Amino acid sequence: MLRPSFAALLTVILSTSVANAWFRLPCTLPMVQERIDPIVNPNQVPSQHVHTVHGGINFFSNTTYDTLRQSSCTNCLVRQDLSNYWFPKLYFNDRAKGTFEAVPNGGLLVYYQNRGTNDVANGGKGLKVSSPRFRMISGDPSARDKQYARGQGSQAELRERAIEWACLGPKSVYSFDLNPKQGFPTTNCPYGLNARIHMPACWDGVNLDSADHKSHVAHLSGLDNGSCPSTHPVGLIRLFYEVTWDVDAFASRWKESDGWPFVYATGDPTGHSWHGDFLNGWDVDVLQRAIDTCNSTPDQLNGIVDACPIFNIASQADAGKCKKTKSSVTETVDGVLTKLPGCNPLQRGPGAATLYTDANCPK
Ligand SMILES: *[C@@H]1O[C@H](CO)[C@@H](O)[C@H](O)[C@H]1NC(C)=O
Ligand SMILES: *[C@@H]1O[C@H](CO)[C@@H](O)[C@H](O)[C@H]1NC(C)=O
Repeated sequence: MLRPSFAALLTVILSTSVANAWFRLPCTLPMVQERIDPIVNPNQVPSQHVHTVHGGINFFSNTTYDTLRQSSCTNCLVRQDLSNYWFPKLYFNDRAKGTFEAVPNGGLLVYYQNRGTNDVANGGKGLKVSSPRFRMISGDPSARDKQYARGQGSQAELRERAIEWACLGPKSVYSFDLNPKQGFPTTNCPYGLNARIHMPACWDGVNLDSADHKSHVAHLSGLDNGSCPSTHPVGLIRLFYEVTWDVDAFASRWKESDGWPFVYATGDPTGHSWHGDFLNGWDVDVLQRAIDTCNSTPDQLNGIVDACPIFNIASQADAGKCKKTKSSVTETVDGVLTKLPGCNPLQRGPGAATLYTDANCPK
């Protein structure tokens, strides 16, 4: 469990960190954590690495929009949104003992933002909700470095820039812009390790998915503002994920001189494999009506989700009860482990990591 002081601080930091959010969707402590990925590894049990999952409870390897819409609950606060949001789980690598320990995250905050020249506030035609069966990912589980000069502006560079980390401390130290090659921080983060991911906000308007789960969408030219490329002209409401892990709980167990000890479930000690997945489960008419109408009062413009009367909002306590108690995979992913679940040996890069399956795991 996160210590109460940590959770309280988190709320303050998060609520001031991104201006002009259209609304912020809080998701409570994870709905389930397991090796399942209905986008990248559909119908495969288990998938490659452990994910931390939020949203509708019907999360399985074979989940579709239609089965997700039948979810009995979601651990995020808007009841009409049964989407799934997931990302790799973080572990502490105790190098002296050779073990891995799960690091708790304090939930997920999903910002739904009205950005770019398609937004009516910027003179555009208005932002759209993607179609019901839409899905996408941002980030790359095999990445261990960045390839492009920051700000170069190609879609490939924007994809790299879309993943960020911040080391939170008493002065709200945001370290992610300091060094374009840097992934994870190098020091303890007293208020937590914060990771963010920008999802693409431009759509080709036709395909609900693509082979790499990315090509049917594109980033805005300025990542969080600007225009859509002509190949992907439809402006979507923009999703931005923010997660904070309580790395400070492990502060007494490592020294800076030994190097940063936290790794993603992908076997990544660099941070560059950070990625996020979105499987749409919205009542799309509700979201479109909210986008079109909940944009006038001060609270609506400040991103307060309760200020949009179209939404049916659950309490934190009620949403927090929505947890998948029986995982689709019989393996332990929490507590102290002797190896990362699946076949995820630590791969430091800088070249792309090999994504092993259980079947081709090197001995
Ligand atoms: C999807 O997977 C779940 C869990 O493994 C299973 O209970 C369900 O029957 C599957 N549904 C279909 C349509 O195959
Ligand atoms: C985005 O750019 C437009 C101009 O194209 C500007 O009016 C607007 O304030 C910008 N929004 C943000 C959040 O920077």
